Amino acid sequence: MARLDVIETFHGILFPGHLHTQDSLQLALKFPFQDTDIVIVSYPKSGTTWMQEIVSLISSRGDPQVSQTVPNWTRAPWLEHHYFAVVLEASPTTPRVITSHLPHHLLGPTLQGSKAKVIYVSRNPKDVAVSFYHFHKIANFLPEAGSFPEFLNRFLEGTLHYGSWFDHIKGWTSQTATMNNLLHITYEEMSLDLHGVIKRVSSHLHSPLLEDEINNCVKHCRFSSMKDNKMANYTLVPADIMDHSKGSFMRKGKIGDWKSMFTEELNQYFKSIFQSKMEDCALEFVWEEQ
Ligand code: A3P
Repeated sequence: MARLDVIETFHGILFPGHLHTQDSLQLALKFPFQDTDIVIVSYPKSGTTWMQEIVSLISSRGDPQVSQTVPNWTRAPWLEHHYFAVVLEASPTTPRVITSHLPHHLLGPTLQGSKAKVIYVSRNPKDVAVSFYHFHKIANFLPEAGSFPEFLNRFLEGTLHYGSWFDHIKGWTSQTATMNNLLHITYEEMSLDLHGVIKRVSSHLHSPLLEDEINNCVKHCRFSSMKDNKMANYTLVPADIMDHSKGSFMRKGKIGDWKSMFTEELNQYFKSIFQSKMEDCALEFVWEEQ
């Protein structure tokens, strides 16, 4: 069902029609979560695929057999994608691992009352914007990226596909104090202390691992390993959907790559918008100065 040119607008947010339909988005909001479910939630380009790999490896106690033979979109399908129900039915593993890019104001009510374990992944928005910009160049189901300053403007306005980064982070992180089944992990924590993150995620999932098992998880979800893993690096996606000649999904995998694209002027502009939009957010983010 490749509809690369179609955009679905749902609750005022644009979604690629190649992956979403009105039905699939409506169904996502009615999904009956089970208490055993693991739900990975993120704004795109925040480390979603990395967390999918971490959770897969924790579930197999560090054994890479499944993560190296089953694509990430089958191991941890996106709730709102049109193929979700079929994939979930075909691989009835417990616990089920489900991914979503939906903001809290849409998905929160569906999760209410459920004990599903939610992992929210965030990243320095400047690095998200740069990563998303490059991704627009290879993903034929996303619109033309235009120039970086234009793209950044759309990111700050919240008019890109998947909506506003600000609404996404504020919506989900405002729940961390009251939703004790919600764990917030940043890309920066994953980069600086992967071992510690795996320990925290495994304990959140009530699946504590032995030291050797954690070390195996670390080994198989490092950037260099995932870059070579066809089941996580998106090279299985046909070239008409992702143009691999224009760049790699596993691009740089670094903290602070925003510095390669932001001029001082763009940085000041970003800072002023960030400050005003985040004024009502009590959380302090470790990546603020990175
Ligand atoms: P870059 O474009 O900055 O390299 P998502 O999965 O949410 O779409 O995020 C993709 C980003 O995460 C890309 O960032 C990708 O390279 C990075 N990434 C994926 N796996 C990673 C890993 N193991 N280590 C570091 N970065 C990783």
